[in-house]
Amino acid sequence: MEKRFLIVIFGGLGDLAKSKIYPVLHSLYKKAHLSNCSKIISTGRRPDIGKEEFIQILKDSIGDNDTSFFSLFEFVRLDLDKMEEYKNLEDILSKFKEEELIFYIATPPFTFESIITNLGNFLKEISNKRKIVIEKPFGYDLESAKRLNSIIKEYFKEEEIYRIDHFLGKETVQNIFGLRFSNIIFEGIWNRNFIDHIQISALEDIGVEGRLGYYDKVGALRDMIQNHLMQILTLIAMEPPCCINEKAIRDEKVKVLKSIREVKYDDVPLYAVRGQYEGYLKDERLTKSYTETYAVVKLYIDNLRWDGVPFYLRTGKKLKKKETSAIIVFKKIPGLFSKLLDCTPQENIIGFKIAPENKIILNFQLRPLGGSLLSCPIPTAMEWNGPNLEAYETLFIDIIEGDHTLFIREDEIERAWEIVQPIIDFWKDHREIPIYPEGSFGPKEAEDFIRRDGRVWRYL
Ligand SMILES: NC(=O)c1ccc[n+]([C@@H]2O[C@H](COP(=O)([O-])OP(=O)(O)OC[C@H]3O[C@@H](n4cnc5c(N)ncnc54)[C@H](OP(=O)(O)O)[C@@H]3O)[C@@H](O)[C@H]2O)c1
Repeated sequence: MEKRFLIVIFGGLGDLAKSKIYPVLHSLYKKAHLSNCSKIISTGRRPDIGKEEFIQILKDSIGDNDTSFFSLFEFVRLDLDKMEEYKNLEDILSKFKEEELIFYIATPPFTFESIITNLGNFLKEISNKRKIVIEKPFGYDLESAKRLNSIIKEYFKEEEIYRIDHFLGKETVQNIFGLRFSNIIFEGIWNRNFIDHIQISALEDIGVEGRLGYYDKVGALRDMIQNHLMQILTLIAMEPPCCINEKAIRDEKVKVLKSIREVKYDDVPLYAVRGQYEGYLKDERLTKSYTETYAVVKLYIDNLRWDGVPFYLRTGKKLKKKETSAIIVFKKIPGLFSKLLDCTPQENIIGFKIAPENKIILNFQLRPLGGSLLSCPIPTAMEWNGPNLEAYETLFIDIIEGDHTLFIREDEIERAWEIVQPIIDFWKDHREIPIYPEGSFGPKEAEDFIRRDGRVWRYL
């Protein structure tokens, strides 16, 4: 018999629960992935929420009146900061002695330490198998990430912990691995001999919107680069694993992170640029802030495959274009052909577009129909358009099945913080920040930064 499980969502009245978790659970329910789920418990502090009000929240969230799905749920009032209130879960949990318990912590990051401690102590009296799912951001810097890891480890084993980076659940991101390791034609060129540089970008046309309170403490480097973009870097740069299992794949990703060249504190201006959009301080909730809403970091991987190839990790808000992508830019065509052509052939690229749509593009060039061999070649592209699957759906299935491949391991998260820590420190000590116009391509300093390397920012 397959094992049964029960899901507990802490922060069940929050934005993530309503916008992502409930719709994804509904979709999984309709596809029969929750047939072994005995119950879904949502918790929250609001005293005015009874059974009916909670069902209305679910209805609004999924946009459907699916009463059979709603019957899986139970709402439990619980202040997660108060240890004594966890006993509110006792009655209901006592009915499910055989079930594996999946605790999903969907609350603001400043609550993680106390919730993990309270939950860990509460679970000492309970013998069910358990899993704990922790949302991002995992820590605020290297020290806080280490502290959070050490608190979790007091109560949970590494195999019970699922640290979420939802970018890893995205179809195109997983296809970086798929394309590289299922096609022999790419292996020979996937290195410093053929690749000039790599650009990994998460560009948004919107600002901080309702997330100001959180975002102003965090900024672009911590919000996007340390986690999501660094994860994409590891998938592009990793060696083929010895086998397809979670340990082998995560070991290879960690090896990449360990090979990233240290950015020394004094050298930070050579490796990183930041900016803040013009209207950021106009928000009446702020008086002064040096938080970056745009950041670029250039990293080098000191190993045989990648020596000398820069990886540019770039993110920003209120930009002209919304695009999340990873672009592999190949070297210019050398020698005779480039000299004889009366135009400069474009570099070949392989582009992974992650948002707004899923797409993989291979750009190459052909001689024009009827043209001479040496006339200017026409750029040509081959595209694969993937489905826009919800990343959280994939991640939930993996949590249920106990597959950690798409989750971040303890050593992985700490090493990623170690890499960006000198930049965090330098920016804290040097606060003046370039301002860029809203709807632009970012600060002029970022344009100069890449132009100095003889390159330009790419878009798909
Ligand atoms: N929202 C998104 O789209 C999104 C995307 C990616 C990752 N995340 C991550 O997901 C997590 C949740 O985000 P969210 O946007 O859903 O947050 P949120 O709406 O601000 O908070 C979620 C819930 O946490 C509870 N909460 C707030 N302060 C608390 C405290 N001091 N002690 C105990 N509970 C408290 C509140 O529930 P009650 O008041 O009912 O107790 C609230 O409804 C965060 O770690 C965030 O970084 C969110």
